[in-house]
Amino acid sequence: MNRCGHVPVELDWQHGEFFDTSKLYLICATHGALYSPESGHCLGGRCNGKGLEPVSVIERNGAVYLTPTE
Ligand code: FES
Repeated sequence: MNRCGHVPVELDWQHGEFFDTSKLYLICATHGALYSPESGHCLGGRCNGKGLEPVSVIERNGAVYLTPTE
């Protein structure tokens, strides 16, 4: 979910841009919290251990779709 663990805002620093300058980590544009792109775990900054909320998706024919949650 594109919602920071610190304050519930979107991470983008420009529309659809989430990665830091190293391109290794997701970064929150508001206060700079860092997240793992693979797991969404908080890696540092103001997220204080609170990671990104996972969502269930499937990839089909090059497109990614949300799947229903229970
Ligand atoms: S709102 Fe994301 S680090 Fe503060």
